[in-house]
Amino acid sequence: MKDILYKEGWLNIKTDPAIDFVKEIKYLKEKKNVVLLAHYYQTNDIQDVADYIGDSLGLAQEAKKTKADIILFAGVHFMAETAKILNPGKKVLIPDLNAGCSLADSCPPKEFKAFKEAHKDHIVISYINCTAEIKALSDIICTSSNALAIVESLPKDQKIIFAPDKNLGAYISKKTGREMVLWNGACMVHELFDLEKLLNLKIKHPDAEVIAHPECEAKILDYADFIGSTTALLNYSKKSKNKKFIVVTETGILYQMQKNSPEKTFIPAPPDNSCACNECPYMKRNTLEKIYIALKYEEPEIRMENTLMEKSLQPILRMLELSEKLV
Ligand code: 13P
Ligand code: SF4
Repeated sequence: MKDILYKEGWLNIKTDPAIDFVKEIKYLKEKKNVVLLAHYYQTNDIQDVADYIGDSLGLAQEAKKTKADIILFAGVHFMAETAKILNPGKKVLIPDLNAGCSLADSCPPKEFKAFKEAHKDHIVISYINCTAEIKALSDIICTSSNALAIVESLPKDQKIIFAPDKNLGAYISKKTGREMVLWNGACMVHELFDLEKLLNLKIKHPDAEVIAHPECEAKILDYADFIGSTTALLNYSKKSKNKKFIVVTETGILYQMQKNSPEKTFIPAPPDNSCACNECPYMKRNTLEKIYIALKYEEPEIRMENTLMEKSLQPILRMLELSEKLV
């Protein structure tokens, strides 16, 4: 299997059209003692077969404590890579190796190393949406759930580089009143929300609360009634007395919002064009068919150099420890 040829990031094997993927996935998970972890941005059918659905922090915590022999990560590459770093002895599978991330891609290790060297007295906090190479160059990893608490936990005079998301960095900087050196990276999905269209939607639905992910630009966040990670947005929509929400993040989260609050209305915020651009094209590469093939053939597998895994582990563990204390 090591020499297997992937076609477009997965085994791309012709499957029998009669196969019931849901049934087969459940059977193979049980038989091989697999835990299927899925991010909220996965399609509804994948969320329905997952053992755990969560945001980046929840998924990393779940990966850390799993007793399963195999982890199948229905998310993007940096998430599966994080699960592998936390479990070097386990097999970690991803349905499609090409499920990348524009934000992780916006921070190449060579350039980041030079950037870090130009700010020698700074501590490096990196958002988990980055490659293992960037994690290895960082002091602490954070997610959108714990970035604020982690930055606030550092001494006031500690100089900070925040990478790679400039929008999350600017939001944390504004909340804490701390200046941080920001890497100029962004998520292609969260950068596409259009302010004028959002305001028009708000005029049409004046009773709706705007809830947004902090990867959005400041001009969008300025109009949000609540800002938080995908899990925080979901929890807010459950707790709020409001009955209508304009949701400014990837549309996958709307499935759990609607499931948890069937009496409420959730409206996806519009992007600045007519395509389905608030769907993450990387997250949406995963399908039930690819999950079935991955479980059956135990490929594609995340394979990493031991030294890279060792170097990138400490900053992730620091995040998990701080999260337990602070969040
Ligand atoms: P969270 O999972 O932290 O909400 O981040 C969203 C995201 O863009 C994941 O790629
Ligand atoms: Fe990356 Fe953005 Fe997709 Fe998340 S939504 S995986 S940050 S491109």
